[in-house]
Amino acid sequence: MSNFLSKENFEKMGEYIYRKSGIYLEYDKHFDKISKYIDERSSKLGFDNFRKYFFKLRFEDKDSSEFQELMNAVTVNETYFFREKNQFEVLVDHVLHEIDKTKRAGEPIRILSAPCSTGEEPYSIILHIIEEGEIVEKRDIEVIGIDIDSTVIEKAKKSEYSQRSIHAIPKNILSQWFEKKKFSYKLSEDLIGTVDFQVANIFDKSEMRKLGKFDVIFSRNMLIYFDDASRKEVAMNFYDMLNPNGFILLGHAEYMSRIVSVFKAKKVGDTLIYQK
Ligand SMILES: C[S@@+](CC[C@H](N)C(=O)[O-])C[C@H]1O[C@@H](n2cnc3c(N)ncnc32)[C@H](O)[C@@H]1O
Repeated sequence: MSNFLSKENFEKMGEYIYRKSGIYLEYDKHFDKISKYIDERSSKLGFDNFRKYFFKLRFEDKDSSEFQELMNAVTVNETYFFREKNQFEVLVDHVLHEIDKTKRAGEPIRILSAPCSTGEEPYSIILHIIEEGEIVEKRDIEVIGIDIDSTVIEKAKKSEYSQRSIHAIPKNILSQWFEKKKFSYKLSEDLIGTVDFQVANIFDKSEMRKLGKFDVIFSRNMLIYFDDASRKEVAMNFYDMLNPNGFILLGHAEYMSRIVSVFKAKKVGDTLIYQK
């Protein structure tokens, strides 16, 4: 049980986290995790009450490092290679060809993985694109991965994965592109650096603008942590970030048609995708 965190203070924290990141915390589900974090963090900072910690977080955090610590603690980073694999297949069998038709010679195709967590999703995109081959021969394909959590981005850059992370990769692809270490699988040096990883908050419009425009956005298994208003805001940010006719792919429990009506829903096989 927390030394510092009352229900009222949990609500203050929840409101602050929601406003800054869109992540919606519920008392019954998240109180223990947040109160443990605040106890540990406050004691590390030498604070003896919640008020001092909360003051620092809001008013004495010019470089956002305290906010970053908090984000690293509250996010859920679950991911693995080839998760919801049908979407990567639709990307290479359908989406890339559709985009290719609308592009001038020499123009690159830009794909955003937002959020990318520890990198399994954008590297799954790369692994599928390599296998496809045809479009890669004629165009540059840029893949950018962003996440609000700086610890996952550091891990993504190291590109060393657990058994759990790689369990769904077919054996031939695993042996071709990963080096087996004692307790992990290291991505081949040929692939490290093919994804541009950056720490960024999806709600931060200026950070999003700096990333430029995209042809495809993968945004899987993040919107489920947001409430309706935040989902709407993110969906409209994505709309602005997509080139005309660009595509968006969501997680299997996420439906754009329940969020905004500005995208056309398309079914390719059993997979739902959305187009600007
Ligand atoms: C469950 S993971 C999903 C990873 C991957 N897309 C997948 O489906 O396997 C959710 C990620 O969303 C990130 N996240 C949460 N809020 C965010 C925000 N406001 N901006 C950017 N990333 C955010 C978390 O840090 C976490 O790594």
